[in-house]
Amino acid sequence: MIRTRKLSVFNFVVLTALLTLCVATVITAASGAAFQRPAAGARIQKKVAAPKTPRVDYSKFSHQTHVVAQKLECNSCHKVPSKNWKEVRKGDAAFPDVSDFPEHASCLGCHRQQFFARERPAPAVCANCHVNNSPKDTSRYPFPSLGDVTDPTKKVSQFVSEFGVGFPHDKHLDVVGFNSPGFREDRGWLVTVSLQEKKADGPPKSCQVCHATYKPQGDASEEYVTKAPKNLGDAFWLKKGTFKTIPNSHTICFTCHNSDSGIAPEPKDCNVCHKLLSPDPGLKFDFDAKLASDMGITDTMMLARWSRRGSAGAFRHEGGEHPALNCMGCHSVATFNTVDLKTLKVPVKSCGGAEGCHITATTDAGGALNFEIDQKKKDPAFVCTKCHVVFGKAAAVPEGHLKAIPTPAKKPD
Ligand code: HEC
Ligand code: HEC
Ligand code: HEC
Ligand code: HEC
Ligand code: HEC
Ligand code: HEC
Ligand code: HEC
Ligand code: HEC
Repeated sequence: MIRTRKLSVFNFVVLTALLTLCVATVITAASGAAFQRPAAGARIQKKVAAPKTPRVDYSKFSHQTHVVAQKLECNSCHKVPSKNWKEVRKGDAAFPDVSDFPEHASCLGCHRQQFFARERPAPAVCANCHVNNSPKDTSRYPFPSLGDVTDPTKKVSQFVSEFGVGFPHDKHLDVVGFNSPGFREDRGWLVTVSLQEKKADGPPKSCQVCHATYKPQGDASEEYVTKAPKNLGDAFWLKKGTFKTIPNSHTICFTCHNSDSGIAPEPKDCNVCHKLLSPDPGLKFDFDAKLASDMGITDTMMLARWSRRGSAGAFRHEGGEHPALNCMGCHSVATFNTVDLKTLKVPVKSCGGAEGCHITATTDAGGALNFEIDQKKKDPAFVCTKCHVVFGKAAAVPEGHLKAIPTPAKKPD
């Protein structure tokens, strides 16, 4: 997995030997007896010839190495609740969460050498958790599970997650009026809404608990995220309110899944919700990183959602009639698997809706899909931009698109 995590340069300069000594001393002080300094001789030793095997980058932790190859349990490193859970969230907002990195003790058994490596400005391994791993500054990045805790004074580590979250929407469809000993009444707003609402039309309110429209246009006059060129015409430019959010913390899940309620999975069962992802090279996404960059899109939430769009990169949740429609008319939540992206596809048929919105029996009836298919048939170079960012360049119209067009009803004789 690609990670970018830069070590900031120290604001002071110390001789290598002195620094190593300092770091060692501070850690010894912090971790007590569990941490022993290596033999003095080993530290004074001059650096020997570089190893022949490719050098391991100890600034980039990988779960593949530790969970798959080393077969370590999640909770051999991750402790829940972390010591700082009452500090990171205040008062009523606080709940026993895994809110900090694993402690030194979980690494030292195998990585004593890396923790005492004579590297400047500090051992590379420290950078996995610490911002400036110097004896003076022992601060750590906020643990990534604190996506809902925004502290502008804290530097956030930039990483691409090795995991996907498996949320079985189907198992939660009937979680209504749920009540159990550990259930937090003060955060019980979730029980007042149900995933399955009696009313057939309109979006279920429960979906919005976890998925809100991200940075909507609302009443603002500007509809684009960044300034669009004057001569844009029908070309695509990213609009506000295109994406829905996904949960960025444990706040909602641990309302029900906590050690008091006993509803499995409990917080310590990380691996039940977090699944290591192995990229599927067969998957294509309706996303163009260069286009996004040319448009000046820097919002990490937008880029994360957009780069996962495997159906329609231009679809805007806030657009036209979309906000009034039932989410489940387009998303088959009862059957999809959130860690298997191909199951998340939105069927092209759903673009027709109940009223045949973008798909009509004939082109004259105004269907955008009908129009674009006609254009494509006339000219294979035509680009379908109504719903797509890059898919619309395909030379052939997918079979499913053609099949989605209903056969015109026969005129009565
Ligand atoms: C050997 C110790 C170790 C084990 C075992 C371990 N982790 Fe981690 N985990 C870490 C460290 C260190 C970090 C912080 C460095 C980083 O960002 O990856 C981390 C970060 C994470 C993150 C945030 C970064 C990301 O890639 O999303 C998640 C989620 C996570 N661990 C889940 C798990 C789960 C689930 C398991 C068990 C299947 C597990 N961990 C097992 C040490 C461990
Ligand atoms: C059971 C032994 C074991 C434990 C515990 C362990 N590691 Fe490792 N780690 C390894 C092995 C084996 C490798 C493969 C490279 C090597 O041999 O050093 C490795 C590699 C790494 C790497 C290089 C990149 C990678 O992941 O492949 C980093 C960084 C790392 N470990 C950090 C940590 C941290 C931080 C902890 C504690 C949270 C930890 N490890 C706990 C055995 C362990
Ligand atoms: C796997 C994540 C991880 C790595 C890697 C790591 N640390 Fe830490 N470090 C922590 C955590 C978590 C604490 C807080 C422990 C506690 O509260 O008991 C901590 C505490 C400290 C402290 C004590 C100060 C304090 O705030 O309590 C020092 C000093 C320190 N680390 C230095 C280092 C150095 C130097 C390295 C590299 C050689 C390093 N750490 C590597 C996670 C890490
Ligand atoms: C009940 C399910 C559940 C359990 C159990 C759980 N998590 Fe999570 N976790 C989530 C959800 C949902 C998110 C937010 C969605 C997302 O970030 O994709 C999340 C986010 C995170 C993140 C933020 C970064 C990322 O990769 O998404 C970290 C780190 C994390 N969890 C670590 C852990 C660790 C460590 C454990 C075990 C001690 C754990 N979680 C247990 C559901 C769970
Ligand atoms: C309790 C929180 C919760 C509720 C309620 C919920 N979801 Fe989700 N949803 C999630 C989580 C967690 C994920 C996985 C996010 C991830 O991949 O990290 C997810 C994923 C999705 C995705 C796939 C997103 C992607 O990655 O492309 C869609 C679509 C979706 N949900 C739609 C719905 C709809 C429609 C409803 C209402 C019927 C709903 N969800 C209700 C938590 C929830
Ligand atoms: C008219 C069809 C339609 C309706 C109605 C709809 N969506 Fe979507 N939604 C889509 C499409 C298309 C995508 C992009 C899927 C892709 O390309 O992978 C999407 C993506 C998502 C995602 C992933 C994040 C993103 O924006 O890419 C979530 C979460 C989501 N929808 C939730 C909802 C919720 C919650 C509702 C109801 C409030 C809803 N959707 C209503 C069509 C719809
Ligand atoms: C309103 C309470 C509630 C909330 C909030 C909630 N869950 Fe659940 N969850 C349950 C219940 C109850 C079950 C058991 C359902 C069953 O077995 O039919 C369950 C089951 C699960 C399971 C299946 C466990 C298994 O054995 O297969 C997973 C995984 C899960 N939840 C993850 C999550 C995640 C991730 C979130 C947050 C995005 C979340 N849940 C939020 C109540 C909740
Ligand atoms: C009204 C919206 C809409 C229009 C117009 C539209 N598409 Fe699509 N397209 C979708 C949806 C939704 C999907 C995902 C579901 C699917 O693959 O059937 C999709 C998927 C695709 C895919 C990916 C299929 C795959 O197998 O991965 C391609 C390629 C594609 N469209 C090309 C086109 C072309 C070419 C046109 C113009 C003739 C076009 N689309 C017009 C909505 C649309």
